[in-house]
Amino acid sequence: MIGALKDIGRRGLFMFDPETAHGMSIAALKSGLVPACRTRSDPRLRQTVAGLDFENPLGMAAGYDKNAEVPEALLRLGFGFTEIGTVTPKAQAGNPRPRIFRLVEDDGVINRLGFNNEGHEAAFRRLSSIRGKGIIGVNIGANKDSTDRVSDYVTGIRRFYSVARYFTANISSPNTPGLRDLQARESLAALLSAVLAARDEEAAKAGRKIPVFLKIAPDLTEEGMDDIAAEALAHDLDGLIVSNTTLSRDGLKDQRQAKEAGGLSGKPVFAKSTTVLAKMRRRVGPAMPIIGVGGVSSAETALEKIRAGADLVQLYSCMVYEGPGLPGKIVAGLSTLLDRERVNSIRDLRDTKLDYWADRPI
Ligand code: FNR
Repeated sequence: MIGALKDIGRRGLFMFDPETAHGMSIAALKSGLVPACRTRSDPRLRQTVAGLDFENPLGMAAGYDKNAEVPEALLRLGFGFTEIGTVTPKAQAGNPRPRIFRLVEDDGVINRLGFNNEGHEAAFRRLSSIRGKGIIGVNIGANKDSTDRVSDYVTGIRRFYSVARYFTANISSPNTPGLRDLQARESLAALLSAVLAARDEEAAKAGRKIPVFLKIAPDLTEEGMDDIAAEALAHDLDGLIVSNTTLSRDGLKDQRQAKEAGGLSGKPVFAKSTTVLAKMRRRVGPAMPIIGVGGVSSAETALEKIRAGADLVQLYSCMVYEGPGLPGKIVAGLSTLLDRERVNSIRDLRDTKLDYWADRPI
């Protein structure tokens, strides 16, 4: 029955182009018509990471709710946290349409949106009106035409300090020309110094320190990973999000859509993003929080990220294929897996397949 409903919903939304379908799903969440998740919370899934208390380890990744229109509705679907953005200081239109493509045979998505968003003020206003206690992170980026990208990130920290539970500095979108260059060692050092100095100033004023995570690409060399790990450890960074979409097109069945420019996500990025996650865990050591993202589609794949070294996980693309019931299903499925593993906390399974993943070539 649920399968049939999923198919009808999926076929219905798949009649529309992906961006129209996305707008319709946001409208449905706003309307309150999407049923809330009824899974009871499981204390074995609770964790404190970077000083925040997470009800469960599954979050909604950035890019779905770019303008902070539905964070509370997403939390009601069963997610333990959600991330709005990427937001840039000024509103911007992004690239011309079409700019999102479904790779149905691969359960993948290619997007080249280019940080289309309504800008800081619109998202800030929406977040200011929220009274709930759920964990809502703010993912910040730079405008395409910015002449000082680092200052765009600093502006983001200052603008959202009163409403963010955590920040993500996104330097890994492939769709803003030159953005990924911020991952190079010297640029990254300058970015982290400026962003974390702004955070520390705001923390002193507000009397509370909001964690800052750095979101990286999966398309890195071993040396690139060494540099990022060294800078993350040298600064007071609170954690890493691994990873954003990939430029790789390896192993895709849908060769027609594969030719579209942009970042690939969903199942095709699972192995690559999990490998980079484990390699980063090995480099930064056991203490630094890592959020694993890329191709999570089930409780098993979510747990695999944790076994590879993630404290928390996020997803986006597979919800396009599985529908709004997916987070509830994954969270319930994680409890079942914990029964099977006979552990009292999901944290006990972290790193249990670190070597398997970290030893794979990228
Ligand atoms: C994204 N993603 C993304 N990430 C980010 O940091 N800022 C953003 O604005 C966006 N926008 C965005 C739009 C679309 C349409 C997609 C599919 C993805 C990347 C996303 O958060 C995630 O890192 C990757 O998609 C990998 O996870 P999934 O989708 O395979 O679960």
